Amino acid sequence: MFSFRRTLAACSLLIAAGSALAQDNLNVARYDNAGLLTYPADLYAWIQTAASVGSDYNENPIDVENPGTIGVVQMEPTAYKYFMEHGEYADGTMYLLSFYRPERKSDPQLQGFVQGDLVQREIHVIDKVRYPQTAGHAFFLYRGDTTTATALNEPDNVCVACHIPEGSFDGTFSQFYPDIRARLGLTQD
Ligand code: HEC
Repeated sequence: MFSFRRTLAACSLLIAAGSALAQDNLNVARYDNAGLLTYPADLYAWIQTAASVGSDYNENPIDVENPGTIGVVQMEPTAYKYFMEHGEYADGTMYLLSFYRPERKSDPQLQGFVQGDLVQREIHVIDKVRYPQTAGHAFFLYRGDTTTATALNEPDNVCVACHIPEGSFDGTFSQFYPDIRARLGLTQD
């Protein structure tokens, strides 16, 4: 919470009203009647916040011939705008992490890897009201080409157990997302 909110009661009220308005305009996470999170249809418009190579969740040392998947992190654009304005996540914020197979193309003599087929899709929803038992965090794994996924948000769930203690800001790995860490004044550590 920002310290300037404590300076004047009237000022705090105005800021709180402003946040509520911005949150109302958020294109938040959508759930079906069974409470499953619907895979978003407008991903072409999402903001890319990071890319990584070989950060699959395993302990093996990286092999340069087979570096593991290429990970792309994206954020829903109205949530991104809210975050950039306020320096905190609005309820209903969605982050997507997509893993792509690394492909080598010998023509025209590319030395590195390019994005191949999509192999896994994961969403992290931040919502303090909906998920109070995990400090506002739920994780979703979309297997194959499924379009709905159930919340992984038990306190001992593996996603929760890594993200909450290890993510630099509010359960997210913002230390690895250049524009996000710059907004927060974080380093990569
Ligand atoms: C061992 C730690 C670890 C576990 C377990 C883990 N993650 Fe992550 N997650 C990361 C790291 C590190 C990143 C940063 C992005 C990268 O490295 O590609 C990340 C990033 C993410 C992001 C992007 C937004 C954010 O929160 O930073 C999503 C979405 C995500 N993970 C979903 C999941 C889901 C779903 C699970 C469980 C199935 C999971 N993660 C389990 C370490 C973990």
